[in-house]
Parts: sequence; C-alpha cells; structure tokens
Amino acid sequence: MTVERLRAHYGFTRTPFGRDLAPSMLFAGRGHKEAVARIGWLIGEAALGVLTGEVGAGKTVAARAGVAALDNSRHTVVYLPNPAIGARGLHMHLVAALGATPRFHTASLIGQSADLLAAEHDERNKNVVLVVDEAHLLTGDQLEQLRLLTNSDMDARSPLACLLVGQPTLRRRLKLGHLAALDQRIALRYHLAGMDLGETVGYVKHHLQLAGRSDPLFSDDAVALIHQTARGVPRAVNNLAVQALIAAYVDGKGIVDESSAKAAVTEVTSE
Ligand SMILES: Nc1ncnc2c1ncn2[C@@H]1O[C@H](COP(=O)(O)OP(=O)(O)OP(=O)(O)O)[C@@H](O)[C@H]1O
Ligand SMILES: [Mg+2]
Repeated sequence: MTVERLRAHYGFTRTPFGRDLAPSMLFAGRGHKEAVARIGWLIGEAALGVLTGEVGAGKTVAARAGVAALDNSRHTVVYLPNPAIGARGLHMHLVAALGATPRFHTASLIGQSADLLAAEHDERNKNVVLVVDEAHLLTGDQLEQLRLLTNSDMDARSPLACLLVGQPTLRRRLKLGHLAALDQRIALRYHLAGMDLGETVGYVKHHLQLAGRSDPLFSDDAVALIHQTARGVPRAVNNLAVQALIAAYVDGKGIVDESSAKAAVTEVTSE
C-alpha cells in the first residue's frame, strides 16, 4: 500500500493525519487550547510547570505551540527532546544552546550555565524558556539541578521558565520525598486529557480538511468507533483513521464506514 495510491484514491493534496503540522495548522481542542494558554502564563511568570498526558495525547505538539507564539527578541527557547543524558548533559545542552562551549569540569560547567542564564537576562534582556520533553525520564540528580537553576527566589538573577513535559508517572515522581523542594515550586500542573467525542469528530474533520477533503469522508459511526477505541488520544486516532482509510480503499469504497473502522480496529489492536 503506497501513500500515493491512497492520496490518488481520495484526492488528498497531502497525506492526512501526519505528524509534521505547523503550529498554525493544529486542531484547537479544549485541552490543547488550555495547555497552550497555561504555558503562555508560565513563561510570563518565569515559573516552573509540569505538563503531563498519556502517550500520544499531544503534549509535545502543545508545548511547541506554546513557545511558537513567543516574541524571539524577548525569549530564548531551549528545547531538550530527551533528557537521558545525565546531569552533566543537561548543563552541556543548556550551555551549547546559549551559544557557548561547555566547560570540562562539572563544577565549573554548572556555574557556566547559571552565568549564561543570568547573562541572557541582564545583558540581552531575554528570558530563557527551557522545555524538557520526556521529563518522566529525568533522574533525581537532574531534577535537583533544575531546582537549582530555577531557584531565583534569593536574588532575581536568572528568570528561567521551565516546562517539564512527560507521561503521568512524572507527577508521581515529583511527589517523592526527596523531591519535595522541587514539587513545592511547581506553579503550573496541567494534565492533557484525551478528547471527548465531539472533539474527536472535529479533529478528524480538521485533519481531512488539511488534506483537501472538506466533505464528510468518514461516517458518524466510523468516527465514533475510532474515538472509543482511541479513547480520544490524538495519535491513536491518527493511526486508526489511516488504517480505516486503507481498509475502505482496499474494499473500493469512496467513504469510510463503520465496517472499515472495524477492520482498522482489528488491524491496530492485534499488533
Ligand atoms: N492539536 C493537535 N492538532 C493536530 N494534531 C495533533 C494535535 N495534538 C496531537 N496531534 C497529533 O497527535 C500526534 C501525537 O502528538 P504528540 O507527539 O504531541 O503526543 P505526545 O503526548 O507528545 O506523545 P509522547 O508521549 O509519545 O511523546 C501528533 O504527531 C499529531 O499528529
Ligand atoms: Mg511527546
């Protein structure tokens, strides 16, 4: 099954339910909108926040949308896609992202990242926004380093907004005794839940519109079954919708009906 054949069959101008969406092309569901708004607030406050959600819930997409709207002359965004790089790696990433060469000795490297953060603010009048994705992978050591970096209570030296993005286990981790000091400082906690049925309907329509099909291509019961099986989680909806499109194509159908959606469910859940 080639993507080209699917495109030709349905007259798509691009492959629907893809990953490469610009922030302006995103579907603004309730959870997504609220997450983006709260991230905006967090950055304004230069505070520490936690965004959680199930796998595929749209966390990364929301975090990227939240920082995409920022004025580049006022903010420096540092995005860490995967924190499995140790405490040293965290500082090295930050230092490199702020345009310097990381120092070799750890103690001096830690001072260097703190100094660079302060310099962004004091000399360039910019606030740094650190987004750590897959933050459930952060070690206790790394969380302690983040606590120190965001510790601007004493003297407002380095206003750093920090957003930890991760799976629901992240919340529980932060509750652990030795992390209490960090947990207390969290000014924003938002859990991105799955979409409700009405949102999934709008979501599917939105993705199809982006691909050039504004007319109803999925029957109502097909979308309802996809929604139920995916529990409103966007990535799961994407996967089921694509499989359903393939099933309908294979059966020579012009629209995706419930039996195509059922075939998709069987395909995806038996993997
Ligand atoms: N608001 C949205 N508009 C359009 N598509 C979306 C939206 N949110 C999520 N998606 C789709 O769902 C996919 C998964 O989203 P995302 O990668 O942000 O999930 P995640 O919560 O970060 O998952 P993981 O836990 O695996 O990192 C995206 O690639 C995109 O196709
Ligand atoms: Mg993600």
